[in-house]
Amino acid sequence: MIMIKCLKGFEFLDSRGTPTVGAEIELSDGTKALALSPSGASTGEYEAYELRDNDQKRFGGKGVLKAVDNINTEIATALYNLKDPTQDTVDKTMIELDSTDNKSRLGANAILAVSMAFAAAVSKSKKIPIYRSLLSNDSYTLPVPMMNILNGGAHSKNNVDIQEFMIVPVGAKSFIQAMEFGTAVYRNLGEMLTKKGLHVGVGDEGGFAPDLQSDEEGIELIVKAIENAGLLDKVKIALDVAASEWYLKGKYFLPKRKQNLDSDSLITKLEKLVNNYPIISIEDGLSENDWDGWQSLTGLMGNRIMLVGDDLFVTNVERLQQGINRKCANSILIKPNQIGTVSETLKVISSAKRNGYKVVISHRSGETEDSFIADLAVASSADFIKSGAPCRTDRTVKYNRLLKIAYELCNE
Ligand code: PGA
Ligand code: ZN
Repeated sequence: MIMIKCLKGFEFLDSRGTPTVGAEIELSDGTKALALSPSGASTGEYEAYELRDNDQKRFGGKGVLKAVDNINTEIATALYNLKDPTQDTVDKTMIELDSTDNKSRLGANAILAVSMAFAAAVSKSKKIPIYRSLLSNDSYTLPVPMMNILNGGAHSKNNVDIQEFMIVPVGAKSFIQAMEFGTAVYRNLGEMLTKKGLHVGVGDEGGFAPDLQSDEEGIELIVKAIENAGLLDKVKIALDVAASEWYLKGKYFLPKRKQNLDSDSLITKLEKLVNNYPIISIEDGLSENDWDGWQSLTGLMGNRIMLVGDDLFVTNVERLQQGINRKCANSILIKPNQIGTVSETLKVISSAKRNGYKVVISHRSGETEDSFIADLAVASSADFIKSGAPCRTDRTVKYNRLLKIAYELCNE
């Protein structure tokens, strides 16, 4: 019989230098694994709760010592009592122990780190990769990367309101080729920006973050970079508008351009972009609270492009069900820390698939060296993965993990 022999929490740092929670589990057979929770900037209102110390004397209030302490005391005690723990029983024990709707007592950052560490420890104990240990399938597929090569919104200090301009190598024959295409476009974009005298420093997700005349200029630069790379028919564009950030009292206010829009005029703006550029996906085109707008948007464009719910669904099965009932969106973004456990994440993914929604596994803007989401994407045969630009180790660690899996699968 396997037991959890030792569980320890740690305060580590994420890619923005902000504290984040780590957890290390040791099983009774001696296997050990460490996992780290990520952290968002444009967080959805309905996400599970990220517990921070709010002690202004440390890290501007962003310390996570309370969450770490919860792992070392209450969570550890509860898990040490489990006989032959499984992902489901570990996660259920923590959910019941927390006893709130949004994991606010123990902290979703604490719970998720433990949940991922357990998944990683089990895979090590079984001597198989995490993707195989999470779900056993006859065959595994790799996701198509959505690479965020131009950063705006809450992820950069530039003047661009749309948060993410991504490239999607839909015409690549393999994940390996998709990464090759993605880096070619990224490199071309960097060269073009340099020639134009524009800023080539990068934002939180590794994309360039120059000041631009307009959102359209950003898209045109990317189209040109795709053309320069000779990949016009193979690489398309996806946007994450992150429109919840703009929503206040039923209206949208774009903070950088200082522009006011209502729901209908924002839909018209998005429709124009889709008509004029090779856009195949728009994430959070509208706010998490604008269900009527989402219904109109989906009616208008749901059969032409992917409409991805991030803040709208927050990886939550009940919010996804609301979306299904109201015919809102046709794709879901999956961020394990929005819900707080691995087993709940897997449940949302299978519900999305049963209902014909495309699945996009995603990092957060505050990331770590943990590559769990790469394995999650393969385990669940997700359609896409967002892990930022092919730049910055916090981003490439996920792509490199997928490359490693791709090489393994090629040799089978
Ligand atoms: P976040 O951004 O991690 O800052 O929420 C990612 C996204 O919105 O997709
Ligand atoms: Zn998003």
